[in-house]
Formats: sequence, C-alpha cells, structure tokens
Amino acid sequence: MLTIALSKGKMLDLTLDLFRRAGYAMGSLSTESRRLVFPCSEIGMTFLIVRPTDVPTYVEYGAADVGIVGKDVLMEQDSDVYEPLDLGFGACRIAVAALKGQASRDRLSSKIRVATKYPKITERYFNQRGVPVEIIKLYGSIELAPLVGLADRIVDLVETGNTLKAHDLVEVECIAQSTARLVVNRASLKLKHAVVTELIKKLKAASSSPAGSRSATPRKSLRGARRMVKRTRT
Ligand code: PRP
Repeated sequence: MLTIALSKGKMLDLTLDLFRRAGYAMGSLSTESRRLVFPCSEIGMTFLIVRPTDVPTYVEYGAADVGIVGKDVLMEQDSDVYEPLDLGFGACRIAVAALKGQASRDRLSSKIRVATKYPKITERYFNQRGVPVEIIKLYGSIELAPLVGLADRIVDLVETGNTLKAHDLVEVECIAQSTARLVVNRASLKLKHAVVTELIKKLKAASSSPAGSRSATPRKSLRGARRMVKRTRT
C-alpha cells in the first residue's frame, strides 16, 4: 500500500485529473468531501488531503510515501525528500513586485520592507544581491501590503499577472519558476521501490500527454473565480 499526500486547494483537481489519466481509479475521492483520508484499496493507495505547505513534512517523516506539491513550497522548506518528477502543471513564478511608479530602488529608503509568505526564498534572494531587507511574513492576500503602506515590495506567486494588475502592482524581478512536483520519502524509495517507480513512470507518461500541459483550462477557471473574490475583498 502506498500513502500519497495531495495538496488541497487549487492544485487538487489537476492532481486528481493526472492520476486518473495515469490509470488510477480513485472512486471514493472527492474534492467536495470533508474527509482527509481516502483509502483506495482497488489501486493499493491511500490518499491524504493536506495543506500544500505540510506535504513535504508528511513525506520527509514517512507518514506519506509520496507527495504532490509546488516547487515554491519545496524551495521555501528545503525538506529532505527525493524529487524525481516535474509534473508540469500549476506553472507560475515567484516574483518581486512593487506599486506602479515605485519600482525603482532609488525611491526607497536604504532598507527595503518586503511582505511575503516565502521568508526564506526572499531572504536568500536579497542577501545574494547584498540588498538589506526587513521581511514581513504574511499568510495570504500579499498584494494588499504595498497598498496600505505595510511594505515597499512583495515576493509572491504570479501566474497570469492579473492579481498584480488589479492592485496597480508591477513585476520587478523574477526569482524562480515553479510547477507541481512529485516528491518521495527516501526510505520508501528503497523499501517500496517497485511500486514507487511504477507510479513515477505512469505519472510521467500522463503528465507529458496534451491534457497535462501547463495551460490546462480547469486551473484557469478556478483561479478566475478566486480572483473575483479577492478583488471584492480589497
Ligand atoms: C496566488 C498568489 C497571487 C495570485 C497570482 O494567490 O499569491 O495572489 O495567486 O495569480 P495571477 O498572477 O494569476 O493573478 P492564491 O490564490 O494562492 O491566494 P493567497 O494570496 O491567499 O495565497
């Protein structure tokens, strides 16, 4: 039996779609349910639905053999997991952004205030450039911070750029690209080698088929709906 930690939220539908295209029937698994554990004995898998930021922890400690999570989360956490496969979907970038008209550094005081949910990525990035920063950790709606004077810059995910545009922000620099990744517990890779390699092989084949391409429509429509909510909030 393989235990697989799936990121709940925006990536879940695309992940389930990928598993189904790879030939795994996940009968009982529904995104509408409040359940967090879905045993699918017919395919020898149990799925756990967890917060994206918790996926590397479940996999690193062996509570899950395998996980699906964004590269942004992996970069932030530096977890000790094996990362054999880029699944291609969920493509976006981690970028620095600022209010329009304030994108030039010479308009700022010497220490830049940066709001982000990625404090480690942000610190590494600005340290490498020798730019002194004060990092303000937030958990969401990052675009709000420069609008209300909480920060000079933000470091956040950008996919279409529509959320930045809707808040009069512009992308200043791109730090890294991110896509969904398959991660594997190091012990499971040895102890369950045959089933893990079979899973990797099947997901690899399914993710390179056209429906698994980066521009898959379901994510776009989901994100569109979320953006509407966000705009109403701000
Ligand atoms: C992410 C990210 C941006 C937005 C970017 O937010 O933090 O806000 O998506 O997408 P876009 O470039 O296509 O407009 P998410 O929906 O995950 O919510 P959050 O801000 O609460 O983290």
